[in-house]
Amino acid sequence: MSTVIKNGTVVTADLTYKADVLIEDGKIVEVGDNLSGDETLDATGCYVMPGGIDPHTHLEMPFMGTYSSDDFESGTRAALAGGTTMVVDFAIPSPGQGLLDALQMWDNKSTRAHCDYSFHMAITWWSEQVFNEMETVVREKGINTFKHFMAYKGAMMVNDDELFASFQRCAELGALPLVHAENGDVVADLQQKFLAEGNDGPEAHAYSRPPAVEGEATNRAIMIADMAGVPLYVVHTSCEESHEAIRRARQQGKRVYGEPLIQHLTLDESEYAHPDWDHAARRVMSPPFRNKQHQDSLWAGLASGSLSVVATDHCAFTTDQKRYGVGDFTKIPNGTGGLEDRMPMLWTYGVETGRITPNEFVAVTSTNIAKILNIYPKKGAIMKGADADLVVWDPAKEKTISASSQQSAIDYNVFEGKHVKGLPRYTLTRGRVAVHDGDFKGQEGHGEFVSREPFQAVNKALSTWKELTAPRKVERTGIPASGV
Ligand code: URP
Ligand code: ZN
Ligand code: ZN
Ligand code: ZN
Repeated sequence: MSTVIKNGTVVTADLTYKADVLIEDGKIVEVGDNLSGDETLDATGCYVMPGGIDPHTHLEMPFMGTYSSDDFESGTRAALAGGTTMVVDFAIPSPGQGLLDALQMWDNKSTRAHCDYSFHMAITWWSEQVFNEMETVVREKGINTFKHFMAYKGAMMVNDDELFASFQRCAELGALPLVHAENGDVVADLQQKFLAEGNDGPEAHAYSRPPAVEGEATNRAIMIADMAGVPLYVVHTSCEESHEAIRRARQQGKRVYGEPLIQHLTLDESEYAHPDWDHAARRVMSPPFRNKQHQDSLWAGLASGSLSVVATDHCAFTTDQKRYGVGDFTKIPNGTGGLEDRMPMLWTYGVETGRITPNEFVAVTSTNIAKILNIYPKKGAIMKGADADLVVWDPAKEKTISASSQQSAIDYNVFEGKHVKGLPRYTLTRGRVAVHDGDFKGQEGHGEFVSREPFQAVNKALSTWKELTAPRKVERTGIPASGV
């Protein structure tokens, strides 16, 4: 059976033009004029864009004494409802657990996915076993990215020696390291200081993670990646200090990618000053929301290209779960939702306001991600042979975001009450209509794992460090006898 999307305007990362899109067996077979198929989807007044890719989600993740509440079923349902057709989740071994063991756990969880998905593998401890299994993960399991937490001391945090070892291993394997860049030692110290002062509310979460904590770790990770000769991807870039480090590295010819979240772009630190404990706790995530100057910095980065992609870090906890932290903010599970809202929020606050163009919207929500993760043009493209992961985007369609009508399993939404303009008319996952005008028509288990090959490009940062890679031993005329 074939499907044709007619009368729409195709928008890719670099082109905007009127064309029909013909789909067969889950793939795009033709883009052109006057096409016909067995089934016709009308895109009059709409943009036809590559479906969104969210490179950063935590579905059913064991974390801080509980599990994030959206699993691969509700999480991918939320994704499709908002025009996202692929998610990349994190397989996270508990310290001491093997990588392949953890991957098996995430494989089992993902069987109910409505849309395609892939995994990043987390490095939460270091050993010969981890070193060896990294090769299997890359060469046999189709995963080319490794995530490192520089925060969460006593849990998943890795130290600099472990970072350097793992980054070098990534370089050997043609893999890309990711970092959660916050100085976990400083955070742990500040947390204890605020608690000791009786500052136990959710606002102290933000006080304990100031921008300097993130800027320091981002700079450190960039330098370590440079010394390892490997590119770097910085997840949830939330502030100017971190963005500045990324900007500078890119200016120096280093391949460093920054990923702001839709939450940091549109919500600010005043949320933590809300008198209602639940309101503030529901917005506790790491890094925390920042002030307007930091938001301006992130928007500028998207427009100028110094920041590459927009994600959600979707890690949803119910109000009851957030209340684990009453009386001690360090026990509030860290994380917020956003999967269903990323595309409409970015369109509304980015494209509608003129901060970014529709083509830039496609780049940062889909195409750039596909390129960085090495799955382009299977994903992130509208061209013959690409997967028909598409969104027919209606820029005139409006709604007010509300937990009462969302797909996510949790009982609130951090964007509650925000009015968005720009929503999917249709979302297609490999040619299958999963959403039409807000009605969900997806199929549990339709999603497939997307295998990602090691990187073809030369996997070295272009920095002066190269000069140090072949040190010359100095020939000396006189060597003194060793001291006593
Ligand atoms: O607060 C957050 N971001 N929770 C999810 C885990 C992480 O750090 O990405
Ligand atoms: Zn993180
Ligand atoms: Zn995360
Ligand atoms: Zn319709």
